This record gives sequence, C-alpha cells and structure tokens, in this order.
Amino acid sequence: ADPEPVQDFCVAAPMGNGSKASLAFPGLPCKPASTVVSDDFFFAGHARAASTDTPTGAGVTPGNVEAFPGLNTLGLSLNRVDLAPGGVNPLHTHPRAAELVHVEEGEMLVGFVSTDGTFYSKTVRAGESFVIPRGMMHFQYNVGAGAARAMTVFNSQLPGVVLAAQSLFAAEPEIPDAVLAKSFQVDAEIIKLLKSKFRKG
Ligand code: GLV
Ligand code: MN
Repeated sequence: ADPEPVQDFCVAAPMGNGSKASLAFPGLPCKPASTVVSDDFFFAGHARAASTDTPTGAGVTPGNVEAFPGLNTLGLSLNRVDLAPGGVNPLHTHPRAAELVHVEEGEMLVGFVSTDGTFYSKTVRAGESFVIPRGMMHFQYNVGAGAARAMTVFNSQLPGVVLAAQSLFAAEPEIPDAVLAKSFQVDAEIIKLLKSKFRKG
C-alpha cells in the first residue's frame, strides 16, 4: 500500500528525540548511502517473546520502520504476536495495510469483519496463514492449550494501528459520554465504566 521506491534503499536516518515518523513524506529521511552497513538490513527484535502478562494475555512486538529503519521506503513490515492460553490480541484495524497472519506455534482463532458486517474467521494452526484485508477490524484469540505465536506481515512500512477500545474510551480529550451512549445505545453509566477501564491516569 506504500508508494513505490525510487532507489534501492533509503535506510532511515536516526530520528532525534520527540520527532515523529509523520514529519516526513512519503517515508523518513535517508541516512547517507556511504554510511549504510549490512546491519541496517537486519532486525533481531523478534527473536524473543514479548511478555503476555498483560490485561488481554497478548504481547505484540512491532517491527515497523520505527523499530527497523532499513524498512524505510520498502513497503513492508512485520510484528511478532505472542498469546498466552486464552489470550486475545484485541480488536483493532490498520489504516494503511493488509495483514498476513502466519501462525508459527499453537492455534488461534483469527477473524475480521467486512464493511457489510460479515464476520470471517478461521482457526489457524502452526504453519498456516490467514489474511486480513486492509482496514478491517480484526483480532487473534488463542484457542489452544498452550502458548501461541504468529508473525504478522504488512504491506506498509508503518501500517498504523487503531485499537477499538482505546480509540473510543481512552481518547484525549475524551469523547463526550452522551455521544458514546447514543452510539452504543446504552446508559452513560456503562460508558463511564468502560472509560474507567481504558483511560490512563
Ligand atoms: C496483529 O493483528 C498485528 O497487528 O500484529
Ligand atoms: Mn493487526
């Protein structure tokens, strides 16, 4: 989904503190080609599991251009998703990429909802893959007895992630309770409860 590259590579130059990927278009500024070394094309960040001792039992290790600068302008990236038994990588979308879920260990229910409201899902086991079309709301749920692990591959160097619950209930400043209550057709008390679970501080 990213623009086509116009050079062999453009390893992202180190960004100063506080700078954001969105400051450059269409990718990040390149470091001088004469300073590029083999290690710029190497990423070891997925060799270990992220902790799954989280509220949802999921640990996601991003491997986008911010973590792996050699991906800049190449139009792809990958995450590692670890799930404890019963763990869920909670509902979210990626505005800029389709996602290929390749399960490496265990078994997970992987599903997404299309724009006409159809829920597509499959129990995916080690060695198998499932694809999430761009922008669709999706999740992974460990339905096996042991730990589960997947690599998720994206056709964007920075797919972006919109977490459903956090977007709605933890936005800063907050979305008015009345808007959320009408949107979900529930009492404001239920919205306050949901906000209390997701709002920070
Ligand atoms: C899984 O859905 C991921 O975004 O890595
Ligand atoms: Mn995803």
